[in-house]
Amino acid sequence: MTVSTKTVPTITLNDGTEIPQLGFGVFLVPPEETQRTVEEALAVGYRHLDTAQMYGNEAEVGAAIRAAGIPRDELYVTTKLNNGHHLPDDARRSFAESLEKLGLDRVDLFLIHWPLPTRYDGDFVSTWRTLVELRDGGGTTSVGVSNFEPDHLGRIIDDVGVVPAVNQIEVNPYFTNEAARAADARHGIATEAWSPIARGAVVGDETIEAIADRVGRTPAQVTLRWHLQRGDIVFPKSMHRERMEENFALFDFELTDDDVATIAGLDRGESGRTGPNPNTFDRIPR
Ligand SMILES: NC(=O)c1ccc[n+]([C@@H]2O[C@H](COP(=O)([O-])OP(=O)(O)OC[C@H]3O[C@@H](n4cnc5c(N)ncnc54)[C@H](OP(=O)(O)O)[C@@H]3O)[C@@H](O)[C@H]2O)c1
Repeated sequence: MTVSTKTVPTITLNDGTEIPQLGFGVFLVPPEETQRTVEEALAVGYRHLDTAQMYGNEAEVGAAIRAAGIPRDELYVTTKLNNGHHLPDDARRSFAESLEKLGLDRVDLFLIHWPLPTRYDGDFVSTWRTLVELRDGGGTTSVGVSNFEPDHLGRIIDDVGVVPAVNQIEVNPYFTNEAARAADARHGIATEAWSPIARGAVVGDETIEAIADRVGRTPAQVTLRWHLQRGDIVFPKSMHRERMEENFALFDFELTDDDVATIAGLDRGESGRTGPNPNTFDRIPR
């Protein structure tokens, strides 16, 4: 089954550009599996791809884009700055390498992957300034951040005067991350919810299963639909075609307001995270 890509709504970002609200993520897709996986996702209908320098699979994402032959203006491609590349010259050089690996002369969105407030003397502001420069140079249409806490957002906006188009943060039913989502909303920043199905953990949840049974959908579909109805952007990852199709079939059913509130009520606060806390995360991959 291939669902029409026309069913995916777009969100207008604060720089006036549009992003498909549903995309496909490739974190933990091994390079040797990436071209096949992304080609399948494109065949299913996904037109928004989320990769990163850190994932080590940009070249294979690029190979899949070329093999699929989809016109460039029908695709939305995001990549992210690796943690070891925050110094301005490193950011510029690694961004050029990303474009080369992807085989593109422009990406749609480039993000600072992690703020790393305990690294680089706490300076993520000059990194943000460099991303804005890359945008102004035309290599990326939009720029944004990832894993930025409210105070991190405040600093870059005050010091550079440019509001990120998106903030890609962890959000799932067990970690609803409301403070960061609210800060995004206050600034007019679109929230991208990473690990939207908590890396598969929501699938056995009794509350979500009960809603899924009632609406005749799977727990993954209900959870992804929950994100969409809250206005967030999602890009679930799967290496299995049937799950890619399942995760794409979200536009012919609706949750009630009560369902949305019930799922939000599963929040476990800090213990619901599947990933690290951005205030302390400091890993610089080799
Ligand atoms: N900015 C950041 O710091 C950051 C951090 C993490 C993720 N991300 C982005 O967010 C994307 C999504 O997050 P994620 O990959 O961590 O987690 P996710 O999308 O929440 O979950 C992916 C996991 O769930 C399984 N899965 C997928 N669909 C399923 C379904 N319908 N039913 C049951 N299991 C299913 C997948 O297994 P199979 O592959 O075996 O199907 C995989 O193990 C990433 O790929 C990446 O692009 C960003």
